[in-house]
Amino acid sequence: MTRNEVCKILNITLKSLIVYEEHGIVIPKREENNYRNYSEDDLFRLRTVILLKELGFSLKDIKNLIDKNNYGNSHFTRSLYLQLKAVERKIDELDNVKNTLKTSIDKMLECDFELDYNRFVHNIDISLQENKTNRRRWIDMWGFDNKAIKFDKMVRNKWNDELGLFEKYDEILSQIRSRIIKHGAANVIDIGCGTGNLCGDLSGKIDILGIDQSLEMILQAKKKYNKMRFKLGNFLDKPFRKNDVDIVVTTYAFHSLNHNEKKEALNYMLEYLKDDGKIIIADFMFLNDAEREKCKSILCGKGRQDLWDVINNKYYTNLEKLQGYVKSLNCKIHSEHIVNFTWIVEIKK
Ligand SMILES: C[S@@+](CC[C@H](N)C(=O)[O-])C[C@H]1O[C@@H](n2cnc3c(N)ncnc32)[C@H](O)[C@@H]1O
Repeated sequence: MTRNEVCKILNITLKSLIVYEEHGIVIPKREENNYRNYSEDDLFRLRTVILLKELGFSLKDIKNLIDKNNYGNSHFTRSLYLQLKAVERKIDELDNVKNTLKTSIDKMLECDFELDYNRFVHNIDISLQENKTNRRRWIDMWGFDNKAIKFDKMVRNKWNDELGLFEKYDEILSQIRSRIIKHGAANVIDIGCGTGNLCGDLSGKIDILGIDQSLEMILQAKKKYNKMRFKLGNFLDKPFRKNDVDIVVTTYAFHSLNHNEKKEALNYMLEYLKDDGKIIIADFMFLNDAEREKCKSILCGKGRQDLWDVINNKYYTNLEKLQGYVKSLNCKIHSEHIVNFTWIVEIKK
């Protein structure tokens, strides 16, 4: 494709194409006569660039993001995923500005807004600045690739696992697989399925759908288990099926949600389930706040604030609170401590 054809298809100017080329973002091949020849790949890359630019990313950041996601045989999927994440990021940013504006208006209505005008403008500046900082942080945090590739080795060789978080990892997954088989499940949803270690081996005999918010984790799982089905998604996505799943399971992922999010996620998991179905959760938990405080004082007493930070940065379940919530829904809950911070919890309708 010539430059003019590309400009026409994408409705962009020649100047933009030249700028993208100068920044090393999309460099077309040259024909023998030195004319540029844009490929389908270049066109797809340009579509991503245009969207990211529309969302406010700088050319430097765009190059960085695109280069990181343009490898392997799933690079189209990766590119769409990148665009999806960027759109989600933008929605969060706009929500931030929207909330600041709404709060400012409400506050102005309560007080002498003429006097406080500058303070409110300042708040809006701060929220715009926060958005810029978070956008940068989001770009820097783009580390799924490495984590996903190393994940299996990391949990099995217990790299950097002084807290013993992944102790008995394989035994626990195997125990849960036995429970799934014993239940006679015909279909299972595994949320936060990661690289598929829990249900992958069952996927020849049982219909398994793995859901994860990380595309890279899913791509790793897909390489290992070709009979397992996958969906990019989140605990907090509304269920797309109702009352027809035997088991919803999740291992080592529930602690990414805070207490209110856990409640929302549980409601959604229950919606998926058949009347005699069940939820199985294996994850890091404390029995109650007293146990959590005890752990904190032991670790900090040993001068291991760093290890406490590892725990405190996530949302380990408060089991008594979870039990209270489940009972308030008239559901049954059974919990069993397995090792260190890991418990297995079963919930039935
Ligand atoms: C520690 S890994 C565990 C993976 C797998 N369940 C296992 O036992 O090996 C946590 C996984 O949960 C996923 N995850 C974290 N928060 C999530 C969320 N809110 N919705 C969906 N997946 C999530 C992560 O992307 C990651 O793949």
